[in-house]
Amino acid sequence: MIKKAGVIGAGNMGAAIAEVLAFNGLDVVIKDINLDLTAKGVERIRRILEQNAGYQEKRAEKEISRIGKLGVELTEDQKNVIKKTLAPTFPTSEVESTLSHITQTDKWSDFSGCDIVIEAVFEDEAIKKETFKSVSEFLDDEAILASNTSSLSITSLAVNAKHPENVIVTHFFNPPYTLPLVEIVPALQTSDKTVEETYAFISGLKNHRGSMVPIRVKEVPGFVVNRILVPVMNEAIQILDEGIASKEDIDKAMKFGAGFPMGPLELSDMVGLDIVLNVQNILMNDYGDQKYRPSVLLKKLVDAGRLGKKVGIGFYDYRK
Ligand code: 3HC
Repeated sequence: MIKKAGVIGAGNMGAAIAEVLAFNGLDVVIKDINLDLTAKGVERIRRILEQNAGYQEKRAEKEISRIGKLGVELTEDQKNVIKKTLAPTFPTSEVESTLSHITQTDKWSDFSGCDIVIEAVFEDEAIKKETFKSVSEFLDDEAILASNTSSLSITSLAVNAKHPENVIVTHFFNPPYTLPLVEIVPALQTSDKTVEETYAFISGLKNHRGSMVPIRVKEVPGFVVNRILVPVMNEAIQILDEGIASKEDIDKAMKFGAGFPMGPLELSDMVGLDIVLNVQNILMNDYGDQKYRPSVLLKKLVDAGRLGKKVGIGFYDYRK
């Protein structure tokens, strides 16, 4: 039974994964290289919690106003039924108690006693290997060591762990408080027990929209989602670079012609252009196919530091 979890890395994904875990009532230890970074991560978690609680609290009033706009006059009793039916399951009053499940640290030793630790540090092999070595020293023999890597070999990372049989990928999607998918990818060394426990653990979690959805995937570059989605983003950038359509129209094309919730260029900005380039390079190196070659424009934007939303500018300008 998993009760206490650790998260390594308090950046965009680390903080959002910690949010999902705390939202599920787990005690969560979050670590980064210093406490300023963990504090920023916890602020982000607070914003996610407040935003979702706020949405729920306004839902009944929104529904009453929507019905009113249709010309239907509701009685007080009917309004009360709507208020009761749409009463928040996660009100703002629970934000603080959820946050109280989270402990910040800059010490590896604070992961001792965790049933699972999920690392979401930079997608850099040397940093991940060091992370695996450092945390392994303090993990209990049975603790699961999961990685949120989207592109590195978990089999080669597992070599650095004290118990490679406990190592696995849990690949969450941005933003995990809304998107339920988690790709579960065992390393060559991973035991069946670790796979089953991880699958059961993720199946039992919920985010702000519903249950989390795990899928089992073999260890291949890009797994399932990135192998499909990142080449789509790269192709959209290629189309932009060839001057075939404006960025707005490319995004409109995929939203209104293919049912994407976001256009591929705004999605690239959200994911981070450096990450898109990194994954695309890995696909090209590993599958060795021309179709995976990163767009020249994507490389130029990354060289210029225009990495997307996280720096305020990518394809779109978010600074205003
Ligand atoms: N609870 C329930 N419903 C809610 C809600 C809540 N807390 N908040 C909003 N909603 C509902 C409401 O009906 C809302 O409409 P309303 O505002 O009129 O009431 C409706 O959802 C729409 O809300 P939003 O406009 O805020 O949009 P969503 O929150 O639903 O979706 C998004 C935002 C999740 C970012 C969506 O656009 C999306 O899925 N985009 C694609 C993201 C994606 O592909 N991510 C994967 C990237 S790849 C990756 O991460 C892997 C890495 O390795 C690269």
